[in-house]
Amino acid sequence: MTTETTATQPTHALDMPAYIDHSHLVVSDLPMLSDWYQKAMGLSVLEKSAFGQTLGVAGRPLLTLTTAANAARAPRNAPGLFHTAFLVPDRFELGRWLVHAAHSGIALTGASDHLVSEAIYLDDPEGNGIEIYRDRDRSEWNYVPDGTVKMATLPLDLQKLYDESPKESWGGQADGTAIGHIHLQVSDIPEADGFFRDVLGLDLMARYPGASFFASGKYHHHIGANVWNSRGQPKRQSNMTGLSDYTIQFNDAAKFETAAKKLEELEIPTTRQGERLSLIDPWGIGLNLVA
Ligand SMILES: [Fe+2]
Repeated sequence: MTTETTATQPTHALDMPAYIDHSHLVVSDLPMLSDWYQKAMGLSVLEKSAFGQTLGVAGRPLLTLTTAANAARAPRNAPGLFHTAFLVPDRFELGRWLVHAAHSGIALTGASDHLVSEAIYLDDPEGNGIEIYRDRDRSEWNYVPDGTVKMATLPLDLQKLYDESPKESWGGQADGTAIGHIHLQVSDIPEADGFFRDVLGLDLMARYPGASFFASGKYHHHIGANVWNSRGQPKRQSNMTGLSDYTIQFNDAAKFETAAKKLEELEIPTTRQGERLSLIDPWGIGLNLVA
């Protein structure tokens, strides 16, 4: 059981053939949520419109928050978001955020060592899941012969991370912070395997009971999909709060065209504007594919 990676393979989530570029949430209280993402998560407002705001890090848009007059709060078990996962550059930055969270009284919901990464979990004030994580160096990831990667959910020693981190005031997320992956609630795992692997062309990188993890470029996962709360649930409705849509950006244009062709073959409705394709996935979640 050895790693198949070589020094020539890209190591960062965003350098792979496809990656998660953006997440869009519909929220009930836009000013409150925007303020929270700025103060708690260290994002900056990059753009404001009549309907919402786009926030990001160092000029890079990551998260759009909009309001909808008729939006009803999404039930906990509805398909949609499990968490948006913000990838920070390194363990030092994860520790700096942890110190900020501890000193600001931000409630955490968990912390895990996934072998490939170290992750801290929380919810925003409207219950949208958030992960903040750092990747271990790719040379430390273990691939198994079938091409999947070894992941686990072990306790992360938060006290140790806190103790090792500087206790200075924190001015927001570091340049380079990105959405490393998005984790969705879906209603059926075989259907998720069919959609993300067979239609979008991502690789199945790991399986947990009730969850599958997909990626391009042999990243550990750009997309997670689980049925832990949402097994067999009806589609997300468009008038719900929560994850309206997210964007997969393709560095590999051929991979984008292959996915576009597959969607067309399967007669999955899409709207295309140049190199941007929008659709609603099998669980009612909006998805944009951009080359
Ligand atoms: Fe995650």
